[in-house]
Amino acid sequence: MNEHEHMEGGSGHADSSRRNFLKQSSALAALALTPAAANAAIDNGLDEKVAAAFEKMPLQVDINGTMQKLSIEPRVTLLDLLREQLHLTGTKKGCDHGQCGACTVHVDGQRVNSCLTLAMTTEGCKVTTIEGLGSVDQLHPMQAAFIKHDGFQCGYCTPGQIMSAVACVREGHANNPDEIREYMSGNICRCGAYANIVDAIMDVKHGGARV
Ligand code: FES
Ligand code: FES
Repeated sequence: MNEHEHMEGGSGHADSSRRNFLKQSSALAALALTPAAANAAIDNGLDEKVAAAFEKMPLQVDINGTMQKLSIEPRVTLLDLLREQLHLTGTKKGCDHGQCGACTVHVDGQRVNSCLTLAMTTEGCKVTTIEGLGSVDQLHPMQAAFIKHDGFQCGYCTPGQIMSAVACVREGHANNPDEIREYMSGNICRCGAYANIVDAIMDVKHGGARV
């Protein structure tokens, strides 16, 4: 090795030592600063707020006759939007898996399980919940018929039953008890008020009330 090579080798060693020093000190600085800053941000819920700000999307939907301009997470279901964000708790969460019908609402006049419906898909739609069907002062004919025929016991399934019952009549599927049972089969009542529910629907169907 000549002198020149020796000098280069020495200079290379110095450079690499300097790089290592800089790397290590940067890492130490990062270790010293980042966790504290990150912990403080997490403690303040900043990470959630930043994520939420990026994740939320606008939604315009008519709920029970009132146009709502909302900001929602794309993953939220219609059921959770109604209950958690709009506090319309008349619509019930039973199974949350599309198997009990307790969460039934109308979207543009069609009955849907709101637990299986992404709220984003209702952009520009008309959503009707049990709160929008009738009022305490003026019950919808189906609500009145459920009371008249004792169509509920614990009542937990009743909002979904009534929303389905109205749809059943509107769809033209309430012509006889067998047909009603078939088209109401997606709504489970664990109290077993089925016979009275069928009576209530038959009453409305043959009573001629506008549903
Ligand atoms: S809660 Fe939606 S079907 Fe059961
Ligand atoms: S009335 Fe109790 S589950 Fe239907």
